[in-house]
Amino acid sequence: MPTSKSAWDAELYEAKHGFVWKFGEGLVELLNPKPGERILDLGCGPGQLTRQIAERGAIVTGLDSSAEMIGQARQNYPDLDFVLADAATMRFDQEFDAVFSNAALHWMLDAAAVAAAISRALRPGARLIAEMGGRGNISQIERAIAKVLRENGYSFENVRRTFFPSVAEYSALLEQNGLEVRFASLFDRPTDLDGEQGMRNWLVQFAWYYFENMPPGLRLEAQDAVVNELRPKLYIDGLWQADYRRLRISAVKG
Ligand code: BEZ
Repeated sequence: MPTSKSAWDAELYEAKHGFVWKFGEGLVELLNPKPGERILDLGCGPGQLTRQIAERGAIVTGLDSSAEMIGQARQNYPDLDFVLADAATMRFDQEFDAVFSNAALHWMLDAAAVAAAISRALRPGARLIAEMGGRGNISQIERAIAKVLRENGYSFENVRRTFFPSVAEYSALLEQNGLEVRFASLFDRPTDLDGEQGMRNWLVQFAWYYFENMPPGLRLEAQDAVVNELRPKLYIDGLWQADYRRLRISAVKG
């Protein structure tokens, strides 16, 4: 198992973090793709949900800014269309009946540019169906990471790569870009992790950047310290849980 990396580890993602797309199946239901609809799957990862959308007869494009993820998606589903691109700078123009996004928008820090690009990609009357980490997401995990980093003389805020907006913040952003928010909900969704190494694997997969500036020996030690800090809170009856909180949004382009 890698202990640090600078790019997405698509193998670890598929082996240990399948919950990302398993939970996303409910979002595909909300999307309710129809045969012949043109749909953009924004932040498609290795493509499992892209395939589910395609299986409903929609014409789907999966987009991700990670070369590792797009490579894996193309290997998994060679018949589907996958694009390596940054959502903030994508240039689709009124091409889609829907934009779908599961567990990806919280990585897209230029949220204003992304909202503008989503709006541009939708034809009038088309919809956005999205779920992401919302305000308060992984607050216990973040607190533990921040504490351990601080104790070792490293900064938390300076290396942060995610943002978790409130209902009001993200709705305002969409409205400023010509999307009418029809539904928005923020809810806790504690998420089971896989096995005794669940939290350590999660840190390696999703929080590697916090430990990137440390020498390798300290990196392992610091990750252990975070796991130990979290054990009394998130290791429940022999099972690790991540304290996820989701923001789910449905909006329509005016
Ligand atoms: C999330 O899906 O909520 C998430 C994933 C990785 C890092 C932070 C949050």
